[in-house]
Amino acid sequence: MKQREHFGSRFAVIAAMAGSAVGLGNIWRFPYILGEYGGAAFILVYMAACLVLALPIFYAESIIGRSSRSDTFGAMNKLAPGTPWRWVGLLTIISPLLLLGYYSVVGGWSVEYLFKSLSFSFTEVPAEEVPHFFGRFISSTWQPLFAHTAFMALVAGVVLGGVRNGIEKFSKLAMPALFILILVIVGYSLTLPGSFKGVEYLVKPDFSKLSADAIAAALGQAFFSLSLGVGTILTFSSYVKKEENLLVSGVGTAASDLLFAVIAAFAVIPAVFAAGLQPSGGPGLVFETLPYIFNKMGEGMPLLSTLVSSIFFVAILAAALTSAISMLEVGVAFLTDEWGMKRRSATLVLTFFCWSVGILCSLSFGPLADVKVLGLTFFDFLDHLCSDWLLPVGGLLFTTFVGWKMSKDKVRDEFTNGGTVNTRLFDTVYFLMRYVAPVGILVVFATNLLM
Ligand code: PHE
Repeated sequence: MKQREHFGSRFAVIAAMAGSAVGLGNIWRFPYILGEYGGAAFILVYMAACLVLALPIFYAESIIGRSSRSDTFGAMNKLAPGTPWRWVGLLTIISPLLLLGYYSVVGGWSVEYLFKSLSFSFTEVPAEEVPHFFGRFISSTWQPLFAHTAFMALVAGVVLGGVRNGIEKFSKLAMPALFILILVIVGYSLTLPGSFKGVEYLVKPDFSKLSADAIAAALGQAFFSLSLGVGTILTFSSYVKKEENLLVSGVGTAASDLLFAVIAAFAVIPAVFAAGLQPSGGPGLVFETLPYIFNKMGEGMPLLSTLVSSIFFVAILAAALTSAISMLEVGVAFLTDEWGMKRRSATLVLTFFCWSVGILCSLSFGPLADVKVLGLTFFDFLDHLCSDWLLPVGGLLFTTFVGWKMSKDKVRDEFTNGGTVNTRLFDTVYFLMRYVAPVGILVVFATNLLM
């Protein structure tokens, strides 16, 4: 049998996993959700959600992936042969592909915005005009399609390179670069006059804004941001060597994810306050409000504005790419492991599938705006289906599998590397995987259904 590829070092494991975790969820979604739910207090709830619910599910996926060394379908087949669990494996191959279908549309927006920044499109017009670009752009037919195609081509390019030469190499390069780029934006943002109000907003908790709604939002965000429930962490863990410490890679990934979310908030929110705007700008915050701010603040200095906004959109693009490759890899692992397909054909077939789904999503802001699935446009429907259902259901099933189906000895053996590491923490983690995480997810479902 062909030797299964694996990541070359601990840094590679964390770079790839953090690459998957840190994405549009951190830079695009986190700042605006935070803006909607009241700043600092939300960060605290979010941290608790990561620690108590998301991290245990992360470990559940890691344990399944590394102990089986298979794709999600093969993993279930190996660990629970002849049971319906393999359908869970199958579900979690389809869900990341649907997710990628609409994620790549937003990825395409960042390609377009980078291009617009570099070609001085934002500085050619008065700053007040800039926010209008967005609506016009996404509702047009061809431009967003080209951008989406370019994004998918980049994703496929990396995945074609394989685990070691594609995903690992790219993540090891992109993640540190992303860190530096975002810090440059934080530096810029904090020097704008009036930005301190934004800092205050991020560090002074206002608990009066915390509703049940905010807590459900924090959980949903934790799931999305840590890439849980769709088999990406499972698949990446199947490339992790036996000697690697799962506790460390989990904490390393979650910590990087949180760090990037908080830094992104410090890059975005103080700038928003400096411009005298409100942070509750919703999904348009990054694409409408920020380019406006960069141009307004740099008025009369087009080079500076262009530089700042280009750095910002390169950062978003890099973050989106490292996440998107992890989504595609789940299906590629399945087709190569189970069907014996070549990586090249598997990547191309699945890229074509996601690209086609993305076309519908992209057009749903323009020509297909009136075509509705359950009352929602294609894009909104897929977003709702993935974020509110597929991710949490997948997470629930994975953690139930580890907590209730696998034998405790096997789980312990995998988590403690045969009793050599993390032995004291095992019982707590096991308790979280077996009881706390499943109950927590069910509570979130119930809250979502009732609201
Ligand atoms: N975590 C990614 C982000 O924050 C999104 C993602 C979800 C990636 C699920 C893979 C799987 O953007």
